[in-house]
Amino acid sequence: MTVNANAGAPDIGDGVEDAHRPRVAILVLSKGVPAATVAALAQRFEVLDPGDPGGLDRLVADQGERIRGIATTGKTRLDRALLQRLPALEIVASYSAGLDNIDTDALAERGIALTNSSAALADEVADLAIALMVMARRRLVVADAHVRSGAWAAGAFPLGRSVRGARLGVLGLGHIGSGIARRAEAMGMHPRYCTRRPVAGCAYPYYPNAEALASDSDVFVVACPGGAHNRGLVDAAVLAALGPDSTLVNIARGEIVDEAALIEALATGRLGSAGLDVFADEPHVPSKLLALQNVVLTPHIGSATMETRDAMGECVIRSLAQAFDARMRP
Ligand code: DGY
Repeated sequence: MTVNANAGAPDIGDGVEDAHRPRVAILVLSKGVPAATVAALAQRFEVLDPGDPGGLDRLVADQGERIRGIATTGKTRLDRALLQRLPALEIVASYSAGLDNIDTDALAERGIALTNSSAALADEVADLAIALMVMARRRLVVADAHVRSGAWAAGAFPLGRSVRGARLGVLGLGHIGSGIARRAEAMGMHPRYCTRRPVAGCAYPYYPNAEALASDSDVFVVACPGGAHNRGLVDAAVLAALGPDSTLVNIARGEIVDEAALIEALATGRLGSAGLDVFADEPHVPSKLLALQNVVLTPHIGSATMETRDAMGECVIRSLAQAFDARMRP
């Protein structure tokens, strides 16, 4: 099925069609790519939308050899088997920061470009990370219930923990981790970080592994990519290194944290509190986690604002437009 352009799509430059030039075929692989983004793509490309999961197989069988670009999200599977059926593919543009289900090795082997939207969503996700850490340390969800239930009249709310002056450990210092660290500095926190290798020119103290970082942090934010390399990276030992006055925040991927160990640490008070936007098996959240009062939970909404989702869509459009416009110009 080919999608036609319609009104209300974002302006992506000249977009002038040459009637004699064949339009580049772009596959919209994921249902997660918003309609406005698809409509804007259709202004300059031939957009191929499989419609339903069964439709993908048919569409690739019919048109696979013509597909030169893909618009997708990290949640939709793009594996080696599918890539082999797309011999003309030149670029994949993802409406997400995470590339969890995209076989990046297979793309790299063929020299296929891959872009994500992390620059567009980093500030939004960093804002949520800061909100979660303050909410967890000041127990704002429980405080809200204290007011609503009338319990306030019976007694003052217990004291929370400050973020000001606290040591902030950032696991992963990409666009999002850096945004969190910058905000935290402005709030009087002291950032430090762990990445595979020290970041050139970064003045924050560097720690070579997650446990070392945790042992010198009051608040620990998970901001690294998910995937097989980082699964279970924040394990029982890391949580133990944080301790009873500390807070864990995860705005990255649920699989990075050992969820059973986290529940155990929170339930026994060996970890003070947590703020979680992501979970191991979304949208299912373990009932033991739901029952805890020292955790703040949000439903994977890191980038979920109108403004940021628009900006992410524009990233996808710009990536594809730049890839093909550059080559089409004389
Ligand atoms: C992404 O785009 O990968 C993030 O999880 C959005 O919150």
